[in-house]
Amino acid sequence: MATYNFDQLVERKNTNSIKWEYYQDYIPTAPPDALPLWVADMDFLCAEPIVQALRNRVDCQIFGYSNFRTPEYFGAVTGWFKRRFDWVVDNNNIFYSPGVVTAIAVLINILTKPGEGILIQRPVYYPFTNKIEANDRLVVNNPLTYDDGRYSINFIDLEQKIAHHNTKGMILCSPHNPVGLVFSVDELLRMVEICSRHGKWIIADEIHADLIRNGVTHYPLEKIAPHYKEQIISCTSPSKTFNMPGLKISNIIINNPVWQEAWNHLAAECLAISLANPLSIKAVEAAYNEGEEWLAQLKNYIDQNIEFAAAYLGENLPEAHLVYPDGTYLLWIDLNAYCSDQQVLEQLMHDEAKLILDQGYFFGEEGKGFERINAACPRSILEECLSRMTKALLTFNKA
Ligand SMILES: Cc1ncc(COP(=O)(O)O)c(C=O)c1O
Repeated sequence: MATYNFDQLVERKNTNSIKWEYYQDYIPTAPPDALPLWVADMDFLCAEPIVQALRNRVDCQIFGYSNFRTPEYFGAVTGWFKRRFDWVVDNNNIFYSPGVVTAIAVLINILTKPGEGILIQRPVYYPFTNKIEANDRLVVNNPLTYDDGRYSINFIDLEQKIAHHNTKGMILCSPHNPVGLVFSVDELLRMVEICSRHGKWIIADEIHADLIRNGVTHYPLEKIAPHYKEQIISCTSPSKTFNMPGLKISNIIINNPVWQEAWNHLAAECLAISLANPLSIKAVEAAYNEGEEWLAQLKNYIDQNIEFAAAYLGENLPEAHLVYPDGTYLLWIDLNAYCSDQQVLEQLMHDEAKLILDQGYFFGEEGKGFERINAACPRSILEECLSRMTKALLTFNKA
C-alpha cells in the first residue's frame, strides 16, 4: 500500500493554473507573486491510480468522441455512492455535465423563468448568486444564523421565503461552502418537509460530500428523502474529492422524467452538452474504483491541517474565530475583531500579507470581516499563510 506524501511541494507554474498563475484575471487587485490559497483546488498530486489510468488512455494515442454511458463508468459511479453512502442510484438517472456550476446554470433555466426566485443560504459559494443573477432570476436569501461562533439554518425565515409564490425552489450547499456545515438527518428532513409542504424543488450541490472530517457522516439528501426524490436533483463529482476539477466532469442525478427530458432537450440538444472527454471518463473510473486509499490518507492530512490552523490561530491570533468545519477543506475565519472594514482587510491581505484568499464578502454581505483559506495544501504553505496573515493583522492593530 502506497503512502502518499502530502507535505511535498508541487510546482504548479506552467500548468495553466488559475490558482497560482492566472489569479489576477479573477482578482484584478491582487498583487503579483502572492501566495494563493483561494479557489478550491488542492496543491497535492493527483492519486497515482488516476494518473496511471490517464497514462494508459493517453497511450492509446487517439482521443475521439467518447461515450461515458458504459457499464464500467456507471459501475464505478454507482459503486462509490453505494459503498460510501449506502445510496442506490439508477444508471438511467445519471446525467453528464462538465461541471456542477454548469449543471446549476442549466437547471436554473429548466426549473424557472426570468424574474422567478431561487432560495440560497448565504454566506454561500458565490457562483450560486452569479448564475441566478446572470440568468435574470432573483436571489432569495435565507441567511444562515451566526450565533456564538456557529452557523445554523433559520427555518422560520426559510419557510416564509420558500412559501412565497415567486420562489420556485432552493439550491442547498451540502456540505456547506464556506461555513463547513455538514447537515444532520433532522436538518435535511426539515428542509425537505418545508419544501414539500410548499411544493418546491431542491437542487442539492453535494460536491464536497467526500471531504468531511473523520467521524462525521454526510447524508445524500435524496437518500434520506426517497419519498421526495423526484423533486430533488443531486449534483455530484469526484473533482473536488480527487483534485481533478480541470478534467471537467460531474454526475447529475435527476429522477423526475419530465426534468430528464428537459435536461436532454436544453443541455444535450440546445447547448450540445452531452459528450464527456475520454480522459475524464477514465479518471472518474479510476478515482471511484481505486482512489479510496488515497482519499483516506488525504482526509487524515486535511483533518490535521485544520487542527494545526486552529492551534496556530488560538496561539497567535486569539481574537480570530475559526468556524470549525465538519466538511470541506476550507477555513472560514472571522477576523472582525482585528479588522471589520472589508476593503481594508482585503488590502491588508493583498498588499501587506501578499496572500490571495477568498474574501468573505464574495459570499454575501454576511461574510464581511471573514477570510476563506483553502487548507488543501502542504502544511508548510498553510503555516506560511497563517503567519503572514497574523503579522499583517497584528501590525495593523498596533498602528
Ligand atoms: C459548492 C461548490 N459547488 C460547485 C463547485 C465547482 O464545481 P465545478 O467545478 O464542477 O463547476 C465548487 C467549487 O469550489 C463548490 O465549492
